[in-house]
Order: sequence, then C-alpha cells, then structure tokens
Amino acid sequence: MDLQIEYFNDGTAFHEIDPLSINPENLIDFSIYEKQSCGTQGFRFRCLLVDSHSIPRQRLMELLRFWKKVYIHKKQLKIYNEYLNNNLAYFLKHDEIDIVKKTETLIDLSTDVVKECFKTNFSITKDFKKSIDNVQRLLAQAIEFISDINSLNGIADLIGHDYETHLHSIKVGWLMATFINANRELFGVQRGPELKGLLLQAAVAGFLHDIGKIKIPQNILGKKGKLDNLEYIIIQCHTAYSASILFDTGLSKFSMQAILYHHENEDGSGYPSGLGCEQIPLIAKVCHIVDVFDALTSKRHYKESKTPFEALKIMIGENPYLDTLKKFEQEAVENKKTPLTAIVRDDYDIKLRRLREKEIIEEEAKKRVEVRMKLRDKGMSHCFNKELLKRFIHTINQSESFELSGVL
Ligand SMILES: [Fe+2]
Repeated sequence: MDLQIEYFNDGTAFHEIDPLSINPENLIDFSIYEKQSCGTQGFRFRCLLVDSHSIPRQRLMELLRFWKKVYIHKKQLKIYNEYLNNNLAYFLKHDEIDIVKKTETLIDLSTDVVKECFKTNFSITKDFKKSIDNVQRLLAQAIEFISDINSLNGIADLIGHDYETHLHSIKVGWLMATFINANRELFGVQRGPELKGLLLQAAVAGFLHDIGKIKIPQNILGKKGKLDNLEYIIIQCHTAYSASILFDTGLSKFSMQAILYHHENEDGSGYPSGLGCEQIPLIAKVCHIVDVFDALTSKRHYKESKTPFEALKIMIGENPYLDTLKKFEQEAVENKKTPLTAIVRDDYDIKLRRLREKEIIEEEAKKRVEVRMKLRDKGMSHCFNKELLKRFIHTINQSESFELSGVL
C-alpha cells in the first residue's frame, strides 16, 4: 500500500495504537506514525517506522517502550487488526500492558469474530466453518488469559452494561473458562494439553451458545416490552436452533452439550428436553449458571441490571411460589396456540367477537407473563446445581472486583 512519510490531517485519518502491542519477534507490515500539533493546520503525522526489518530487534524493543502514543493510517487498520489477532497471546501476556487495555482489545477482537459467526450465511458451509475457525483461533491465543482468575478484574468492569447478544456470549465463554480452570478437578483434568483443550471447548461453547437466536424473528428478539406466551415459546427454540446450526461444524460433543442444554433446570422444568439433574451434562449446568448470572447483571430495555450480589441472591434463593411458577410455565407451553385460535374467517359480527376474544386472551397472556417474571425473581435455586452454584460464587469472589461477602 502506498503511504506517505508525512501527513497534515485533523486526526480523523489516523488511529491510535499501543506501541506495546507490537511484537518485536514478529515483523510488521504497516507504518507507525507520531502525532504533532500543527496550529491551524491540525496535526502533522510523521512516519516513525515503515519497515521493522530494518531495525535491530533490541533497538525496536527500546523504541516501543519509549514511544507513549503512536498511530497508524486508517487505510492499514485491517492489516493492524490481523497482526493483533496473530499476536494476541503476546499482547495478553505482556506484563507492561494493563488489564483494562488487554480486556478492551480482547473484547473488540472477540466481538468481530462472534459477529462474523452470527451473520454468516449458514447455507454456505465453507464460509461458516471459516468463521468458527476464527473463533477457535482467537480463543486458542486468549485461553490462558481468560481462564486466569486475575482476568476477572477485567470482566468485572463489563458487568451491568446493556445486554447485547455478542458481548453476553463473550462474557459467558470467558466466565466458563475461568470457572472450569478454577474447578478443574470436577472435570477430572489437572493440567497440560488436556486442560487447555477442555477450557477451549468450554469457551467456544460460551461464545456460540446463543447463535440459534439468529433464527428467531427480530420483532420477537428485540421486542420492547414483555413477551407473550407464544413469543416465549418461540424464544425457547433457540437452543435447538443453535445445535442444528453448529451440528456439522466439527465442534466437540462437550461444546454441543453446553449449547443444547444450557436452559435445562435442575428440577426438570427447563428446556428444550426437560432433563432432570442426573441427565443434564456438567458443562451445560456450568453454562446455565454463567448465562443467568450475566443476563441478570445486564441492563435490558424492560429492566435495570442487578448487582452481582443481588443476582446471586436470586439464584441461590428458594422460590416461595414455586408451584405457581411451575403452573405458569406449564400454561405457557399449553397456550402456545393461543393466537392461532383467534384466526378469523367468519362473518363480520363473529369476526369482531373473535378479535375481542383474541385481545382478551393476549391481555391475559401478557399479565401471566408479567407475574411469571416477577415470581421468577423471588428465587431460582430450583434451576441450578447447588454445589456448582456455590463453587461459582467462591470462584468469582476471589476477585476483589466483585463484592459478594454475605451472599452465602
Ligand atoms: Fe440461551
């Protein structure tokens, strides 16, 4: 690419990068600039480095430490992002880069690869497999970082944000890896490639667990306000959709179990299969805990976010209205045909009457959903494995960023 040695620009053509993100072991093929204020002309961007081949490695290391802020031309942003992707493990291991910057960079790169998967045309298998490969490639470099308990300090800053499927998926994968690493004995692995493989499969599952939502109509997924019973049932299809989309991609059985069963409840009241505690795979139980924790602590258009303390109190709380709650859940399943009963094809009077009936039915359905949501917030312990939930609380409590004293 033809770039100049010097530019006068208002700054919009350039992008600031961290000089420490450059790995002296791996030569760069983009140019680095410094920014100087230039009065009325805006800024002057002067090229510091065109070709890292021409500088001895030691000298380059010194310069990278010396430069505080450097810039790249936006025309080369794609090349830089690719470079960062290929050198992510180096970046995340760098002692002099703070955890906030590492987390931000990792979230940015992860968002790109997750978004790519979510928007791939699934009918073109080759493209979709490539997107899945990109997720795995990124996670292979990040797995040591995200499974380290210290990385929780970074993820704690992302708690309480607006719910957004991509960010949620990344946090679920991240927290699953941290949890499993801290509780690896439950999975019968201790160290080495076997542990790394397990952590990777868990993180991949977390990143992709909700990919089936791509098949849920947008007017249901992004609905402002409460879902009615039918919409609730349709949303529940996303676990099976996720599994079917990923069926042929070569993901391990371990990952697929987490994806398909991450909404199964310990008492058999979950979906898609209503499995009981004995039947739910361990990895799916972990995914379920992490998923609900992140959903409760995220802000939605219809509810404020809960603090980690409040969320975990709900998750460990016995629900005093469990029987009523289960009745509502059952009704939701039985009423899935409600709107269909109101299809009108008769004469005008009957049509009006039926429309009115439909209105009443939908109004009632909405009320039931509202009550159901409120009741659910009174306690969710029936959904989770108690021992695992306790371990999850102990695990995230090891990070001073979560204030959890007194939850248990
Ligand atoms: Fe889900």
